[in-house]
Amino acid sequence: MKSTTVIKTSDVENFELKLRQAADTLRSGGLVAFPTETVYGLGADAFNEDAVRLVYRVKGRPADNPLIVHIASLHRAELFAKEIPFKGRKLADIFWPGPLTLVMAGKSNIPSVVTAGLSTVALRVPKNAKTLRLLELFGGGVVGPSANLSGKPSPTEAEHVLNDLDGSIDVLIDDGRTTIGIESTVLDVTFDPPLILRQGGLSREAIEKVIGHIELPGHGSVLGRSPGTHHRHYAPKAQLILVRESDSEKFQRLYEDFRRQKMNVAAITHSIRVSGTSHSTRYMENSAEEYARNIFRLLRECDILGVDVILVEEIEDRGIGAAVMDRLRRAAEC
Ligand code: TXA
Ligand code: MG
Repeated sequence: MKSTTVIKTSDVENFELKLRQAADTLRSGGLVAFPTETVYGLGADAFNEDAVRLVYRVKGRPADNPLIVHIASLHRAELFAKEIPFKGRKLADIFWPGPLTLVMAGKSNIPSVVTAGLSTVALRVPKNAKTLRLLELFGGGVVGPSANLSGKPSPTEAEHVLNDLDGSIDVLIDDGRTTIGIESTVLDVTFDPPLILRQGGLSREAIEKVIGHIELPGHGSVLGRSPGTHHRHYAPKAQLILVRESDSEKFQRLYEDFRRQKMNVAAITHSIRVSGTSHSTRYMENSAEEYARNIFRLLRECDILGVDVILVEEIEDRGIGAAVMDRLRRAAEC
């Protein structure tokens, strides 16, 4: 067991010094969990094979699922990318720092444990001032899968990271709740038109405004290219059931059926109001952004409360809502 040092960003005294020490920890092969605008990441030096292997080990992550390399700015992309295609550069200019990961042809000196043996590398500049400073101080690239145990909902608060990884990481930078709440959009720009490998915090619509048509994940063909998307993901212990938007009748019926079976039922809705509900009912605004911000936290809370069934009212499948629905469908499949 390691003892995990928690650095709170609200604790301004000596903060720069603490960040320098965190950068040193990365340099010496240690693990540093860091905040981003999407979810918390589990950081290690991308050029240190042993450190990267440790990331897989502590997460329990399958070895065939490659990692995103986090860098301080587009200038650093040249350390990892063989070339940056025109459309990729255009998107990076506009959306970095931000919730967009670009998959490009990778340089041959990247350890294969980072890319799971692929010829491509996934790069992202996260939008969090403290983490950007850490990346700048560190100088290289930092692998950063979400800082959760593999299969669990991604962490949107420092406490989620500690619940999963306390004692396995050296440092955790606690910056409170993340603002977006679901992971970055992963876009493969080695194809033209580029291909979305994972929907996420940046909507398809926003990307298409800049570079025109992009391809969405289909079945079959994309699975081979996007290794992470076929793994078990986002799974709460409870059974998750999706109910179509505004279908109050079905929602209420299911709710009562499960309650009659003495099940502990949680409800997450925006337009539907449930009668006779318990403490584990959450009403959200009718906004995809609010769903995104809260969904992983609520799934974790349901586990802590010992919920058996989570009923979730769907939201519209567009904008960031498409990414939220993708996560919910996966959670419902488990
Ligand atoms: O928002 C995020 O992206 C967060 C924060 C911490 O930056 N990170 C994150 O990492 O979600 P992770 O490891 O949980 O998900 C990375 C995704 C996986 O689906 C993985 O398969 C895909 O990116 N990926 C990484 N490298 C790839 C590559 N070379 N080709 C295709 N997909 C890749
Ligand atoms: Mg993940």
